[in-house]
Amino acid sequence: MTTTPQTALPPDRVAFLDDLMARMTLPEKLGQLNLITTNIPVEDDKLAEIRAGRVGGMLGGLFPCTFGVNGPEGLRAVQEAAVRESRLGIPLLLAYDVIHGHQTVFPIPLAVSCTWDLDHVEVTARTAAREASASGLNWVFSPMVDIGRDPRWGRIAEGSGEDPYLGAQIAGAMIHGLQGDDLSSPDSVMACVKHFVGYGAPEGGRDYNNADMSPARLWDVYLPPFQAAVAAEAGSVMMAFSAVNGMPSHADTDLLSKILPGVLKVSDFDGIPEMIAHGLGDEAGQIVADDPLQTLSERALRAGVQMDMMGKGFITRLEAALAAGRVTMAQIDSACRAVLEAKEKLGLFADPFARFDPARAAQVILAPQHRQAARTVAADSCVLLKNDGDLLPLAKTGTIAVVGPLADDTKNVLGPWAFQGDPATAVSVLAGIRAVVGDGATVLHARGANITEDRRMLDLLNFAGPKVDLDPRTPEEMQAEAVEVARRADVVIAVVGEAAEMSGESASRMDIGIPENQRDLLKALHQTGTPVVLVTMNGRPLTLPWEAETLPAILVSWFGGCEAGHAVADLLFGDRVPSGRLTTSWPRHVGQVPLPYDRATTGRPGNPANDPGKYSTRCYLDGPSEPLFPFGFGLSTTVFAYGVPQVDAPVLRGDVPLTVTVEVTNAGTRTGVETVQLYLTDPVASVVRPGRQLRGFRKVRLEPGQTQTVSFTLTTADLEFHDQALNRTWEPGQFIIGIGPHSADLKTVSVDWLKD
Ligand code: NOJ
Repeated sequence: MTTTPQTALPPDRVAFLDDLMARMTLPEKLGQLNLITTNIPVEDDKLAEIRAGRVGGMLGGLFPCTFGVNGPEGLRAVQEAAVRESRLGIPLLLAYDVIHGHQTVFPIPLAVSCTWDLDHVEVTARTAAREASASGLNWVFSPMVDIGRDPRWGRIAEGSGEDPYLGAQIAGAMIHGLQGDDLSSPDSVMACVKHFVGYGAPEGGRDYNNADMSPARLWDVYLPPFQAAVAAEAGSVMMAFSAVNGMPSHADTDLLSKILPGVLKVSDFDGIPEMIAHGLGDEAGQIVADDPLQTLSERALRAGVQMDMMGKGFITRLEAALAAGRVTMAQIDSACRAVLEAKEKLGLFADPFARFDPARAAQVILAPQHRQAARTVAADSCVLLKNDGDLLPLAKTGTIAVVGPLADDTKNVLGPWAFQGDPATAVSVLAGIRAVVGDGATVLHARGANITEDRRMLDLLNFAGPKVDLDPRTPEEMQAEAVEVARRADVVIAVVGEAAEMSGESASRMDIGIPENQRDLLKALHQTGTPVVLVTMNGRPLTLPWEAETLPAILVSWFGGCEAGHAVADLLFGDRVPSGRLTTSWPRHVGQVPLPYDRATTGRPGNPANDPGKYSTRCYLDGPSEPLFPFGFGLSTTVFAYGVPQVDAPVLRGDVPLTVTVEVTNAGTRTGVETVQLYLTDPVASVVRPGRQLRGFRKVRLEPGQTQTVSFTLTTADLEFHDQALNRTWEPGQFIIGIGPHSADLKTVSVDWLKD
């Protein structure tokens, strides 16, 4: 994919910005590059800076997270100060981390990606934009398009999984949802795509850690979602904290200029001064003027960073840098221009107060149709991993025990990065089940365990105030109560997993199983003999070897947002069919990671049928090589049968499209929704290639007995990759096309695709 230049402004608006810039002083220009944080009400010193024209944008404070909460009134004061009291009246960018909904909280992005439904993705973003913009915000730090292949990394929750093809499509849908058809419309917000680039590949899965990878991997795996976002006219991009191949993105002149021309480039929070801790100097490895912040702020500007989030170096150091000739006026002008153009595209000069609309806020925030969308998307995000003996769907009769520390939870269910979500508006799984089963069944409840008893983890999770609720009873007391409830029930629904704070930023884990004390609870429940339906709440792939071996049904509900309880109940009791499919591989054991489905074959691939056992293969001595649940996997409450894929031409020459079709039949007795997936293999190439790569997917709804022919079109763009010289190319020869329900269950057909 090539980078498309962004739409230019009309000539009269260009002239307007030319004139404005001609009237700006150097300090005012630098002011536009300064992005600071605030709480509401705004602190006096910050108001003074705004009035002096020394602030270009403001970001809501995280602790306490009050920004925007009170609706448009709070924010209006800030914009008033900028527009009415600064010399040139330039409006502010008003930003916030709106990651998966605003006050109507949707499932975490990783969950939404499991819908494989771009309309759903777009609805989540559009809804968030409507609500955030009604609160006065005009800029959101979303979407996170980092490819995530290491489930230890907590921020895997914020992205769309491990695949660049799917990730690129989701990135485009997110941009369109947030920015709408017209960015200047009062219900649109500017997207900020993050984190450029490779932030999702931290060594050891530890957040903020650096990555080292081949340039081809960077271009083929990590860059495509950014390129797709830029092609969709994303207004801005945020840099990554980490260094890739030795270079922090905040200083990466080469990549910034190649991938992001014409897009507003923003530092991450303190990302520029944090290069000091990276041990970076200027391009010659020196510290200038005996001042590391001076050195790195200059370097970031030279590299192409245009707005400094919280670093304070642009506002305090660039005048001196200009005087000393280490940055140019053209570099400052170009950064200032990018900020002003963003404001222009948002319509802020035309009407800086269009997004302050209390009547609209009252109408849209948590509107019934927003909640309905949240319920639908939450249900379609859930992934059914096991359903022995057709245990699901459950009958709405008898006695149902709903057990587990997350069963009656309205806080964690919102997930990480839900600062504007109010637990009082969330539906717990217990409440959802009660609402959906009605009077037909008796619903019992017991907590059974705390989320974790690990004191070290609890201290870390609670460092900024109490986040994880603890029941004062002993584990034994809680478990005994749960076992007693389970014995009286026909079925147990065990809702266990992670606290919201166990994923997201700065939340890496080295053990990605269900916390031990909750696993003990599951074992005790299982021993009662009452069948246990496991419902997990989680922000990452979990290792579930014992659970998958032992328990009859497993439904992954992620952190499903404010309607999670209804959504889970809809699936458990058959009011909606489960249709989610994994967008990350789920390892058996954390020692297997990273384990993406598109890993390249090796010279000693071994024979999966023989695994484990053969010497000189890539097998582990102490367990299988393959994931427990592969990329793309998810069950339905029906079964689908696939025919052999057919192609319209076995030999192709040059840049012509190829049509591939496959017949898919609902061979079960219930309606079902299948995600038909197409993967491509390039068996012989000049470099070692991925074993298979996703190149198409279609969601189809089929009634029992119904067959549908599903059609895909491939073009030579689908064959392309970066060779060792980083040329984007494709090589003629045989290609194998596999179609099936997931990445490890494919029926294939091959074609010869020749250059001419
Ligand atoms: C740091 C995070 O890396 C980034 O994703 C977020 O947008 C900023 N903080 C602002 O909160």
